[in-house]
This record gives sequence, structure tokens and C-alpha cells, in this order.
Amino acid sequence: FSSSQSGKDEYVEYLFRVHTEYRNCLRKNSEVVQYFFDRGFNDREIEEYEFGYCPGGSKIAYEVASKLSLKFSKAIRYGLMRKVESGYVDTFENRIIIPIKDDFGRIVAFGGRTVSNREPKYLNSPETPYFSKRSVLFMFDKAKKAIKGVDFVVVTEGYFDAIAFHRIGVTNAVATLGTSLSEIHLMKLKPLTKNIILCFDSDDAGKRATMSTLKIFLENDFDVAIAQFKEKDPDEVLRKSGADMLKDTLKKALPFEEYIVEFYSKQFELSTTSGTERFLMQLRPWTRLMLSLKKIERYENLLRIISSKTRLSTAQLSEYFKSKAI
Ligand code: UTP
Ligand code: MN
Ligand code: MN
Ligand code: MN
Ligand code: MN
Repeated sequence: FSSSQSGKDEYVEYLFRVHTEYRNCLRKNSEVVQYFFDRGFNDREIEEYEFGYCPGGSKIAYEVASKLSLKFSKAIRYGLMRKVESGYVDTFENRIIIPIKDDFGRIVAFGGRTVSNREPKYLNSPETPYFSKRSVLFMFDKAKKAIKGVDFVVVTEGYFDAIAFHRIGVTNAVATLGTSLSEIHLMKLKPLTKNIILCFDSDDAGKRATMSTLKIFLENDFDVAIAQFKEKDPDEVLRKSGADMLKDTLKKALPFEEYIVEFYSKQFELSTTSGTERFLMQLRPWTRLMLSLKKIERYENLLRIISSKTRLSTAQLSEYFKSKAI
């Protein structure tokens, strides 16, 4: 496996050619087109987001490899096809195809979603020297200009969440593809903005991811607000409640201080001493992080919000949070 430029060029060319075929397959399959209509896309948007479809039993990846004189062993490592008794078959068969692009708009991977509720729901290209989840922010190629322009970025979990924002004109949205935030993700965002609106799913997994991602962003000196909504994710907000509601979730995003206090206050019985103690214990690392980053305004804001939830004054709280021993 060479990670040379010519190696990547060959890989990108192969994926691009296969993708062109998958787009044609989608145009020809009215049931799959209907799947996109049902998710709220029109014909123009299906083209704009370059969705494709890989039919059952498809040998497209094999055929394209043959045409390009690409070694089949290589094509298999690139993850688009696998060996079966009768020859080769596409890895992504029976899935809609979402192109994943690098920062310059070159397709470096596919996301494949089942249209028949088969597990796993999403299948992605394997990690290669040319693609890893930690090195790619989905939609970043289209979002980077807007992120710099409006000076904030909307960070979502999934393909269709980032796309939902782009559809309503919020083009400064990206997705981490369900993975945790990496050093490389941070490096991409840092030159463009310090301001993050986290827009992860509202289920338990999404809430856990929100807390861990929030921590990483704060440690790296970003300012973070968290969007809240009653639907499962931004894509569902758009489909069930409409574009204005989705835009509204951004306007009403909570500063992280309010979000975490709200988050922990739901977990503990604040009318009792022991509940309050455990509540403060959870907040302690966050307050100390603000102190160590010298974010005094944030720190004081945290104290005020915590104080309003407890019977403790900001002075008492500050004494507790600043003490070394606990
Ligand atoms: P979700 O599990 O939240 O997707 O995963 P979803 O919102 O239910 O999907 P839809 O709306 O029904 O299509 C969020 C993201 O995590 C990655 C994908 O990038 C997905 O968009 N993921 C999820 C995977 O890579 N593999 C999986 O099996 C599931
Ligand atoms: Mn899910
Ligand atoms: Mn999710
Ligand atoms: Mn989701
Ligand atoms: Mn979804």
C-alpha cells in the first residue's frame, strides 16, 4: 500500500469513476429515487449532493477496475468490492451512496446506507492511507468558506444532519460521521473560527458524545454553544418541524455553561445535601478547566448559574472549586 501522491490519485480516480456509475444507477431506480423524495429531497438536490445507488449483485467496482487496469487485489483493499464464489461483487450492494470528500472536494470514501433496514445501517469505506474518519470532516470542502465568513461552525453527527443544514442555506455545517473529534478535525477548524455550535443527536449516545466533544473543544480554546431540539437529530427537525425550526435551534443554542448545569441538575436530587455534593463534583472539572484557561468570565458565569440551582452563593462555590483538596 503506497501512500504516495500517485497512489492517492489512482484511488481517487477509481472512486470517482465508480461513483459516476452509482449516480446513474440511482437515476434509473425509481424506488430509490422515491426513498430520497420521502426524506424530503427533490431531483435537483439528489444531483446537488451527488447521491448514488449500488444495486444488489452489482459488479460495477469490478468492471471499473478492469477498465482502469487496476489490480483486483488493490480494488479489494480499496474496499469497493469483495471476492465471492462466482467472481466479485460490490461491497456497497443494496445501499444508497453518499460521497465523502477531502478538503479539496475529491471523493475519498463512500458512505453506504441500507434502504431495507439491514444492519449495519451505515457501511463506510475502510480506513486506508487515503481515508480515515479522523482525517475527514464531512462537507468541510463546501463549508470552509462559509465557516470563515460567518465565524462559526455547526458540528453534527451524521451525513443527513450536515446535509439538512446545507439544504436550508446553513452551509457552515459539517459532520464528524459518528466518530469522536480528532486532532486533525481541530486543526482544520482552528484557522477558520473559534465558535462552535454542537448539534449532535438528542438520544443518549448523542448526549454522551456532546459532553465528550464539548470537553475536547473547550480544552482547545474554542467557544461552544449546544443546540437543543425535541426530535432525534437535525435531519428529523427539518423533516418534521421545518426549516425555520431548524434555524431556530441554532439561534437558541445554549452557552455551554447553561447546558452542563442543566445536564447535571437533571441527574441529581438538588434538594438534598448529598445530591448537591455529587452535582458539584461533576461540575468541578469544568470550572477548573475554565480557571486553568483563564476564562474568568466563563468561570464566573458558571458560578452564577450553579448558584441559582443551589442554595450556595457564588463566593461559597468559588471557594469550593478553587480548593485543591476535595
Ligand atoms: P446515526 O445512527 O445517528 O444515524 O449515526 P441516523 O441519524 O440514525 O441515520 P438516518 O438518519 O436514519 O440515515 C450518525 C452517523 O454515524 C455514522 C454515520 O456517519 C451516521 O450518519 N454511522 C452510524 C456509521 O458510520 N455507521 C453506523 O452503523 C451508524
Ligand atoms: Mn441511529
Ligand atoms: Mn446518532
Ligand atoms: Mn442520527
Ligand atoms: Mn438521522
